[in-house]
Amino acid sequence: MAAIGKNIGRAGRLLYGGKVVAIPTETVYGLAANALDEFAVAEIFRVKNRPLYNPLIVHLASGSELEKYVAEVPSVAEKLIQKFWPGPLTLLLPKKDSIPDIITASLPHVAVRVPDHPLTLDLLRSLDFPLAAPSANPYCYISPTRTAHVQQQIGDKIPYILDGGNCQQGLESTIVGFEQNTPTIYRLGAIAQEEIEEVVGKVKLHRHANARPVSPGMLPFHYSPSTPLYLVDKVEDFGPAPDPAETGMISFYKVVDGVPEQHQAILSPTANLSEAASNLYHALHRLDALNLKRIIAEKLPDVGLGKTINERLRKAAGKTAESQSLYGARAVLR
Ligand code: TXA
Ligand code: MG
Repeated sequence: MAAIGKNIGRAGRLLYGGKVVAIPTETVYGLAANALDEFAVAEIFRVKNRPLYNPLIVHLASGSELEKYVAEVPSVAEKLIQKFWPGPLTLLLPKKDSIPDIITASLPHVAVRVPDHPLTLDLLRSLDFPLAAPSANPYCYISPTRTAHVQQQIGDKIPYILDGGNCQQGLESTIVGFEQNTPTIYRLGAIAQEEIEEVVGKVKLHRHANARPVSPGMLPFHYSPSTPLYLVDKVEDFGPAPDPAETGMISFYKVVDGVPEQHQAILSPTANLSEAASNLYHALHRLDALNLKRIIAEKLPDVGLGKTINERLRKAAGKTAESQSLYGARAVLR
């Protein structure tokens, strides 16, 4: 099991020694290593069981470090940086040779962000290298938003978890790239598309997974629990499940009659999308651990963070959708 604590000095010593350490961010916990040490970075891929073709985000202490690692910052990117850093915005920018190829899977662009978490910012300032960090979950499983999630999933493979409490945002960063200076969202995230558009105008959205995604976060099976998950328009449309003892329910704000209370996750009793976002992954972790036959999740309003949440739920349902259509889900329930 990993040690858990708030000791930045200890985390720093491990990182200087080429080790991998879990770190808190405002979005989800990350699995961090020295981004300039390809052997340390290789250890991230091993611990996560992640294929080497899936590149990593580089975390910086501040935007002033950008020039060491990227060749060019378009003016439209500058605007986003002014508005959102530190914060859950990741930018794809042309890399300099200082970034090892293992970070970008040999792509010409590197993903960078300045995380908004006081402990991790202190840690980054104490180091003379940036931190490569994917979410601290095994490949394709649900991202961790609490130290307990990290400990349960990969605690036996890492020496230390830096404890920054529960992640406030609860959804990964929004990833934005620039094609001929046109901002394009590669992954919906903790900053809503509308918020990005307020700063830079209309953006393009790459949301459909394909065989060779530009950003592998677009693969359909990301964020999956082990329990089959069905996505429905409204939880009440489905009535009581035939075997409620085997059914988990994720709803936006309503209590569902006929399903045991401990099988239910109400994302925000006040129907607030930010609150729902911060509770989503914990709800998935908690219900998945109950080993039920199925989890039924309700779509949220498709605006703002609701779009990101729906996207994550769709991916969490990905494996189920492949073997069984929504029609199949109805059949199971009735
Ligand atoms: O909020 C976050 O972004 C968290 C915290 C820890 O910072 N990190 C995170 O990392 O979600 P990860 O590795 O789980 O997801 C990063 C996504 C992946 O889908 C990856 O394919 C994409 O970013 N990505 C990274 N570098 C890229 C690049 N050079 N070009 C295209 N996509 C890239
Ligand atoms: Mg991830």
